[in-house]
Amino acid sequence: MNRTELARIAHAMTAKGRGILAADESTGTIKKRFDKIKLESTEENRRAYREMLFTAPGAADHISGVILYDETLRQSTKGGERFADLLTRLGVVPGIKVDAGTKPMPNFPGEVITEGLDGLAGRLAEYHQLGARFAKWRAVIDIGAGIPTRTCIETNAELLARYAALCQAAEIVPIVEPEVLMDGGHTLERCEEVTDAVLCEVFDRLFAHRVYLEGMVLKPNMVISGQKCPDRAGPAQVAEATLRCLRRRVPSAVPGIAFLSGGQSEAEATHHLDLMNRAGGLPWALTFSYGRALQASALAAWGGAPAQVAAGQREFLKRARLNGLATQGKYEPALEKQAA
Ligand code: 13P
Repeated sequence: MNRTELARIAHAMTAKGRGILAADESTGTIKKRFDKIKLESTEENRRAYREMLFTAPGAADHISGVILYDETLRQSTKGGERFADLLTRLGVVPGIKVDAGTKPMPNFPGEVITEGLDGLAGRLAEYHQLGARFAKWRAVIDIGAGIPTRTCIETNAELLARYAALCQAAEIVPIVEPEVLMDGGHTLERCEEVTDAVLCEVFDRLFAHRVYLEGMVLKPNMVISGQKCPDRAGPAQVAEATLRCLRRRVPSAVPGIAFLSGGQSEAEATHHLDLMNRAGGLPWALTFSYGRALQASALAAWGGAPAQVAAGQREFLKRARLNGLATQGKYEPALEKQAA
């Protein structure tokens, strides 16, 4: 394992002012996104959409890395440049989703396990050859009546650690993503309790598997009330509870933490990140690895029309720029009113 190289990449991914675009929607997920704009999910439409995002002028000022899906890593621009080569040329690190999605966990109703370890070493070697320098694996923990169970937390944490160790052996930086969902009606306090338990277990297993913490990036959820909670906590409480949880559970050897947006609105996700960075004195860089919170407006503005590429790019750049400011604690909600 080349530790120097792993640490260098992890630092580049979480450098101040920049963050990660999660554009690794699986074929099933991107279809759901395209359904909303009434666009057929063909391979060419998926390619054209990703080309719009990756070629947005100046995006690299705010975007340090892009998580790709297997299909996308093998695709090219209309002009014939491989996406991985384009991103590398722009100083943006290409990454790859390597998990194979979730499956119901037998004997544990309502809970899921992430698949994808079988054959992973071979796939990582190929992905490295294709230009990927980091990877992502998402574990999903739902909150509900009687869940999550210890068994679900422990099993998912063990899988994340085994994935991370395999990545580092292939000289690929693992993004370790344990996502506690915000779908339910639970309170912020309940989310904090579960996130705390999950991060505790994840770092225990990373330690057990001798994962090099300086050469990884953590991608957690924020500590936030469930979408259906009748009395949702405000931004200051989200920032405070999230920082409290991370300070307790994430070793300072980890260079950076890149949040998922998880169903927050674009402006909410940016505001929360900004408030945390304003706190200052943090041992790790705090940035974004957003999917929906970077793409929702851009996707709507593009709408699948070639004539709307520039409009889509302007919306994407606006989100990238505002989130870049949020990584430095320099965002103001009033900036949302400015035109893209
Ligand atoms: P969201 O920001 O839309 O939650 O997506 C991030 C991601 O990569 C989830 O795995």
